[in-house]
Amino acid sequence: LPTFTQDWFSHNVPNLQKALGLLEKRRRFLEIGCFEGMSTCWFLRNALDDVGEIVCVDTFEGGIEHVKTSFEGVRERFEQNIAEMKGPAQSVRVLDCHSHLALAKLISEESRFDFIYVDGSHTAPDVLADACLAYLLLQTGGIIVFDDYLYGQDKPLLETPKAALDMFTLLYREKVSIVMLNYQLGVRKIG
Ligand SMILES: C[S@@+](CC[C@H](N)C(=O)[O-])C[C@H]1O[C@@H](n2cnc3c(N)ncnc32)[C@H](O)[C@@H]1O
Repeated sequence: LPTFTQDWFSHNVPNLQKALGLLEKRRRFLEIGCFEGMSTCWFLRNALDDVGEIVCVDTFEGGIEHVKTSFEGVRERFEQNIAEMKGPAQSVRVLDCHSHLALAKLISEESRFDFIYVDGSHTAPDVLADACLAYLLLQTGGIIVFDDYLYGQDKPLLETPKAALDMFTLLYREKVSIVMLNYQLGVRKIG
C-alpha cells in the first residue's frame, strides 16, 4: 500500500470531485506540487482516464512554509506510491524542478491539459506566475484548481496565494470563469 507521512489532501476530495465532474475530457492532467503523491495517487485512481497522462512538477525540496517538514525520502516515496497506484495504460511524467521552469518547458513543447492542480509554492509572486503559465497550458473548457486560496490569513500578504489569485481572476476575468470558491479556487478557461 502507498505510504504517506503527511495528509494535506483528503479534505479536498469533495471539492475535486465537484470540479472534475464539470470536465468533458480527463485525458491529460498537470499537477504542480505533488510531494509524496497522495493527490497524484487519488487522480490516478479516481479521475484520470485509463489511458491518460499526468505530469507532476515538484522540486522535492519544499517551500518557505515547509521549514518544519523533512524532505528526506520524499522523492523515493513518491515514486513507490505512484508505482503502486498507476493503471497499466496510464503514464506519469515527473519534472523535478522549479514550477516556472517546468511550465515554460511544457509551453515550449506545446503541451495542453484538461485539468491542472496547483499546490506548489504558496508565495504570492510564485502563485501569480504559476497561474498565468498554467492558463497558457489549459485547453479551452479545461479547469484549474488552486489549493490553499485562503491559506495563511495570519501571514504577510506576499506569503499567501490569495493576493495573487485575486489579481489573476481580476485580470483574466474575460478569459476564465470561477467554478468554485471556498478554501480552494476553481476556474474554467473560457477564452
Ligand atoms: C503542500 S505540498 C503538495 C501536496 C500534494 N499536492 C498533496 O495534496 O498531497 C507542496 C509541494 O510543492 C513543492 N514546491 C514548493 N515550491 C515549489 C516550486 N516553486 N516549484 C515546484 N515545486 C514546489 C514542495 O516541494 C512540496 O512537495
